[in-house]
Amino acid sequence: MKAKIIDGKAIAAELRAEVAAGVRELESATGVKPGLAVVLAGCDPASVSYVTAKEKACAEAGMRSFDIRLPADAGQDALLERVRSLNADPEVHGILVQLPLPPGYDAQAVIEAISPEKDVDGFTPENMGRLAIGRDCFIPCTPHGVMELLARAGVETAGRHAVVIGRSNIVGKPLALLLSRKDANATVTVCHTGTPDLAEHVRRADIVIAAAGRPGTVTGDMVKPGAAVVDVGVNRVPDATRERGWRLAGDCDFAACAEKASFITPVPGGVGPMTIAMLLCNTLQAARRFAAAGARGA
Ligand code: GUN
Repeated sequence: MKAKIIDGKAIAAELRAEVAAGVRELESATGVKPGLAVVLAGCDPASVSYVTAKEKACAEAGMRSFDIRLPADAGQDALLERVRSLNADPEVHGILVQLPLPPGYDAQAVIEAISPEKDVDGFTPENMGRLAIGRDCFIPCTPHGVMELLARAGVETAGRHAVVIGRSNIVGKPLALLLSRKDANATVTVCHTGTPDLAEHVRRADIVIAAAGRPGTVTGDMVKPGAAVVDVGVNRVPDATRERGWRLAGDCDFAACAEKASFITPVPGGVGPMTIAMLLCNTLQAARRFAAAGARGA
């Protein structure tokens, strides 16, 4: 194995400690304790485990978390009503509606109901639009985490060619915007399910970001020697040797890619822990703005 393994868990722990210090400082200076509302409709097992981890991380950072669970059949109107009441609640600074929603919901309409000032996921059109035009905004947590991982691991982006695999609103699209911003200054190619020859593009990448949601998307032969490989995939693949019958796998063939790459993120323990850390950062940022607006009498 040649690549340096980027330890997302350790970098996320560093960030979470920084957030916890920021929370104490904000609370002692202004009396504002950051609060995050996590809304889960239904009981999809992966979503339950994500929201539980988010709430635990909030508590560890000294934040308040509001755990809102709705039955899968609560309905669009009930969910919209909850979001609106959270928008109006002064103890709630950040709102996260866990996606995907159960069948029958209009997720985009729910996202658009979240107040942009509390949109710590950065998914509202206001925040997405601000990201696209380079204005201050909440940056979606997973792409934000990838950028922070690259920066803290010492992976240079300026002047380099980044290939992003995936064009989702949550990961691929915002990452392409972030990498091409002046502060990162990478040249970006976005590949997706309509790309005829993925391997040809990946072979030219100095930085590969795999966010396709499909195991085995990036194989070792596609990786240019010395490239940095960031694996955003979180796939449950069958594994009879595990008691629960599955294991987590990323989008990249880890062992083969690690032979070629200079840096690589593992799954689990790479990008995943960073997503939660960035959620805490965004919630602290929202609470700071709330406190500053209060001080100005806004
Ligand atoms: N589902 C998968 N990732 C995310 C995320 O970052 N935010 C929300 N709200 N739902 C998700």
